[in-house]
Amino acid sequence: MTDTLNPDRIAFSLNPRAKNIAVHIVEETGSTSTDLLKQADTLFSPTLLLARRQTAGRGRSGKSWHADSGASLTFSLAWPFLRPTEELSGLPLATGVALALALRKLGVPVALKWPNDILKDGKKLAGILVERVSRQNRLEKNGNWVIIGIGINLQLPDTLAEKIGQPASGAPLLFRMDKNRLVAALLNQLADAFALFEEAGLSAFIPIWNDMHAYQGKPVRLFQEGRPGQSGTVVGIDSHGRLLLEENGNITAFSAGELSLRPNPEKAHHAFTD
Ligand code: BTN
Repeated sequence: MTDTLNPDRIAFSLNPRAKNIAVHIVEETGSTSTDLLKQADTLFSPTLLLARRQTAGRGRSGKSWHADSGASLTFSLAWPFLRPTEELSGLPLATGVALALALRKLGVPVALKWPNDILKDGKKLAGILVERVSRQNRLEKNGNWVIIGIGINLQLPDTLAEKIGQPASGAPLLFRMDKNRLVAALLNQLADAFALFEEAGLSAFIPIWNDMHAYQGKPVRLFQEGRPGQSGTVVGIDSHGRLLLEENGNITAFSAGELSLRPNPEKAHHAFTD
């Protein structure tokens, strides 16, 4: 079957910027990100680890990432960055732009949700988990190595929807396409975005990020561990990837940390009726 994931077939479709990615595919693992974090000390070039079945996927804020074999695409990339460590807070957002651009080019109408969710039809299609590696045995002269984990719901069978337990969406178009071409398309866009991030930082992504944000200019509320916090209208993001919220004429910046964003329909209603 041409569709069967195969490292050589993926490598064949990679562009010059992505060509040096070492492509590894495993049948099953707990978490591709955990595996790469463990191997990070021994890596010398950008590395992809893709699992056909991931059984203990991790998400942001200590949450689980649920996946079904065949219905989900789960992979992690280990990548070295020379930009100052404090600027890496912008990398999850730059990754979100790359993923969203790649998916849009493939015909899937997606939007971003701060800090780095990918939405389709207003529901989560894909998630991104960015973790910095602390390299114990080597000088950090090669820069910071980062593990970028990506999970995409290609399909949403009832079994997976039940496990996720929150509104989520799938993308049948992606489910049907050749998975080697799909992975190569994602890697090509990610490699281009990482090169731009290395050159110019998150600043180069801000206009497109704001443009792709589902809640740009909309009333929202931030939540921490399910508890409601600050509300306001989304102004955009800054060069650190912080969300800028405006309330009563004041603009405040929020770091992603453990925060998540939800629309604030109450305010939307008031804005409409005022
Ligand atoms: C989130 O939205 O909370 C981030 C989800 C990230 C999931 C991916 S799946 C591949 C990689 N391995 C993991 O354990 N997590 C990431």
